[in-house]
Amino acid sequence: MAGELSPIDKAKFAAARRAVDFVESGMRVGLGTGSTAAWMVRCLGELVREQGLSVTGVATSARTAALAREVGIRVVELDEAKWLDITIDGADEFDADMALIKGGGGALLREKIVATASDRMVVITDAAKEVAALGAFPLPVEVIPFGWRTTKALLEETLVSLDVMGREVSLRMDGQAPFRTDEGNLILDLALRRITNPRQVALVLNQIPGVVENGLFIDICDTVVIGEADGTVELRDAASGRVERERIDFAESDNLFRDLAR
Ligand code: 5RP
Repeated sequence: MAGELSPIDKAKFAAARRAVDFVESGMRVGLGTGSTAAWMVRCLGELVREQGLSVTGVATSARTAALAREVGIRVVELDEAKWLDITIDGADEFDADMALIKGGGGALLREKIVATASDRMVVITDAAKEVAALGAFPLPVEVIPFGWRTTKALLEETLVSLDVMGREVSLRMDGQAPFRTDEGNLILDLALRRITNPRQVALVLNQIPGVVENGLFIDICDTVVIGEADGTVELRDAASGRVERERIDFAESDNLFRDLAR
């Protein structure tokens, strides 16, 4: 069944499948958003349904909450869970320091709140998202709708003083209308091309009134799991610097693929 997936989906699936092994019964789990995170939610659902794993999920978006419930995961609000054992989420880019750009799916605000409220954040990804310097992926910045054009102008002015290679700012659209986050906010995408000092950029952007949060995740990710299409996974641990390689057996997940094909 896994043979019917594209190489990129196989890579995402391999990372997701390995990451759910970190989840133990009784854990409160932050559920990320995006296509890689959706694989993780399906894998976790399979463990809940078929192995009786007992977990409580906190979703980082309405669409993840819907998927999680569909696959049998109990979902509660963050304030009910209060603190999480682990969050597993995707990323748009990651660098050697495990700094991330997130928010390609527009869920960066809830993703950052949930990841920060977790003992451990595990990022699941394919190798193509590793970069020498962050910034090729446009940096999403969530802003409130009130006065957003003024906020955009302030952002553009602020970028002049920052060591970045590009400074184009655009409003994210959803067809003909501006994209709205789950909080009803807007996203400005910053085409910075290369961010020399992500920590400084993250701090400076959040000083601008109207900016709710930016998609730079610094010192939040603890582990990166990088999947490859042949089932190989590489695990990198931020604290120890340890790197391990393993192989996922796709045949073990045939049930999951059968469910998806229905
Ligand atoms: C959503 C995110 C996602 O994690 C990021 O966009 C990666 O998505 P995908 O796994 O589909 O490539 O930050 O806001």
